[in-house]
Amino acid sequence: MLQHPPIQNPFRPGAGQRPVYLAGRTHEQDQFRKMLRQDPIAQNAIITGLRGVGKTVLLEELKPLAQSQGWLWTGNDLSESISLTEERLARRIVVDLSALLSPMLIKQEQLPAFGFQSPPSTMQRPIDFHDLWNIYEKTAGLTIDKLKAVLISVWGLIDSAKLSNGVVFAYDEAQNMADHAQHNEYPLSLLIDLFSSLQRSTPCRYLLVLTGLPTLYPKLNEARTYTERMFHIMHLKRLSDDESREAIAEPIRITNSPLTFSGAAIDTIVKMSAGYPYFIQFLGKEVFDAWIGKIHNGEAASVPVGELLEKLDQDFFAARWARATDRQQAFMKVTATLENCEEEFSIQEIVIASKKWLKKPFSASHANQILLDLADKGLVFRTRRGGYSFAVPLMSRFIERQGWSGVDLQGGIK
Ligand SMILES: Nc1ncnc2c1ncn2[C@@H]1O[C@H](COP(=O)(O)OP(=O)(O)O)[C@@H](O)[C@H]1O
Ligand SMILES: [Mg+2]
Repeated sequence: MLQHPPIQNPFRPGAGQRPVYLAGRTHEQDQFRKMLRQDPIAQNAIITGLRGVGKTVLLEELKPLAQSQGWLWTGNDLSESISLTEERLARRIVVDLSALLSPMLIKQEQLPAFGFQSPPSTMQRPIDFHDLWNIYEKTAGLTIDKLKAVLISVWGLIDSAKLSNGVVFAYDEAQNMADHAQHNEYPLSLLIDLFSSLQRSTPCRYLLVLTGLPTLYPKLNEARTYTERMFHIMHLKRLSDDESREAIAEPIRITNSPLTFSGAAIDTIVKMSAGYPYFIQFLGKEVFDAWIGKIHNGEAASVPVGELLEKLDQDFFAARWARATDRQQAFMKVTATLENCEEEFSIQEIVIASKKWLKKPFSASHANQILLDLADKGLVFRTRRGGYSFAVPLMSRFIERQGWSGVDLQGGIK
């Protein structure tokens, strides 16, 4: 019997999973290239947007771009950084820096002479964490003064060795950082102050790139009002229809897949995903897998829409939805009826809609309280302008699929 070679599925749904083809985002890359050419450096970057919109993979894409322009790149994922202290942030920065520099920078060390005859000798070894941390500890003052001293010395070394045009410090999931006034810990403010001060008053070429959910920027702004001038914001949105089509067709083409998607199948995925990259990868993978079972060569002509939505709901939405109480779910069902529910909505709009739909509508203060609770549960977030948005894309479509069962509707509404 003829054996088919295993066919690789070219789609990569999953946080931080590098897509086979990165669609769109050329504007952001151009902007970043411009930022690398700044002299002196005054503008830093924030990459923000909903979960799954492609922040992490864009950040990964910027790294080789920076390197090709002669920049060094360091940084970290701040996912677990809610209780980060200033000292731990300082350590993290110094650890990252020493890991970056140790393969490149050599330190000469005088060894003590043995006996009377032998002259003192020198030894060469790579720079390590302790060399840098020593500078930190020997510097008097606040954490920021100590860190600044380290970063200024490091720039001196990089510059005199002509190692690079600058260093990018890239931090993903930065919305997790927070100041804690009650503990007198201000790591978020420290990070901003550090870069702002280095950029304003030293020749150091350090560029800060922060990536995070839409809560990041308001948070930074609250910590330091001058962030407005310090950051250029790249707000990642859904891909355009053309970009979405490329995001589906290109991985298939690039991998020389014997299985391709018909134009109609691609259109269905574009529509269902609404251009959100995670959904494109998820649906692409599922359609591909469904067809591999049936044919090995040829065109996948249709998309099992019902089954796919079921799977998407289970994999992506259900766990989040289940965090909300019945009353909160009713509240979100009302919200999902708003025309602007996938963008931004106000308390007032929900209050008005609730009068239309519910036997027991929400008062403004109750609505406000529910939104705060839902924000804590990661279902909505407060926008810069003081409105609210759903925290995950296409949430309203999922909510519509849940129907109104279990909700006491206004008389006459079925
Ligand atoms: N521009 C893009 N083109 C195609 N796929 C993308 C693109 N951006 C992101 N993806 C895919 O979307 C998913 C989510 O990307 P990720 O960077 O983790 O999002 P975020 O960091 O914003 O939550 C991944 O599966 C990734 O492969
Ligand atoms: Mg991410």
